[in-house]
Amino acid sequence: MVRQAIIPLAGLGTRLLPLSSVIPKELLPINGKPNLEYIMDECIDAGIRQFIFVIPRKRQSIKKYFFNDKFYKKIIKKKKKDLRLQQVFKKIKRYQKMIKFVYQNKPDGTGDAVLKCKRYLKGTHFLMLLADDLILRRNCSKEMIALHKKTKGSVIASKKVEKKTVSRWGILGFKKKSKNFFLINEVVEKPKLSEAPSNYAIIGRYILPKKILSVLKNQKRGKGGEIHITDAIKFLVKNNEKFYGNIFKGKYIDCGTLEGFIKSSITVSKYL
Ligand code: G1P
Repeated sequence: MVRQAIIPLAGLGTRLLPLSSVIPKELLPINGKPNLEYIMDECIDAGIRQFIFVIPRKRQSIKKYFFNDKFYKKIIKKKKKDLRLQQVFKKIKRYQKMIKFVYQNKPDGTGDAVLKCKRYLKGTHFLMLLADDLILRRNCSKEMIALHKKTKGSVIASKKVEKKTVSRWGILGFKKKSKNFFLINEVVEKPKLSEAPSNYAIIGRYILPKKILSVLKNQKRGKGGEIHITDAIKFLVKNNEKFYGNIFKGKYIDCGTLEGFIKSSITVSKYL
């Protein structure tokens, strides 16, 4: 059973400055709701029971968003008839029960973020989601968990992208492919077109085996001096660990750039 989800939230959000200098990018509203809530709702619907948020110790706003009972209680007391307020607080309390915080004070990469969650990880596999990647129309995490149940292997969400854009993504190589999934035999982070094993890109959702922690522990820093999860996955794939690409057919939105973020509200309002 995949019951835990790690969400790395320690990135600098450089591409969304100056907005992200005051509000963490994951809390910027998209059609009235932060990206982080869309992702959490997707996970809850897929059966996730616990979130591990990896944040810098100094980034208090994410904590405050979910853990601010005193503030809510005070206004609810004042505005007893405001039903919306009560509903908002109820929803926040529901999220609150599921969240644990882990600290990553430097943006040292997704691999380092996962490593920092070690003491909380319980089952054989866990989900990791990148908060820049918003997914609509179909529950990508649910589809991935179903594929994990069927294959018992690890799963990466993937989407066919235009060939000329391969250098923007982590790209997956495979041997056999069926309509909905494939067995991965290669993972390359942001390859040149000539070096890309396919045009199936990683789209920010991973079901990973707990054993990846021992790979990460000994892993050297990669591109940009960071510990990348992709490098650890590559190592496991080379050592015959089964990783499947789940071909996602819903709507994918990249909210990590200003252009994507602006478009996202319009797209969400169309699809919801
Ligand atoms: C990250 C991953 C990359 C993936 C992309 C979209 O890149 O490293 O493999 O394809 O997210 O999920 P980033 O967007 O941080 O540059």
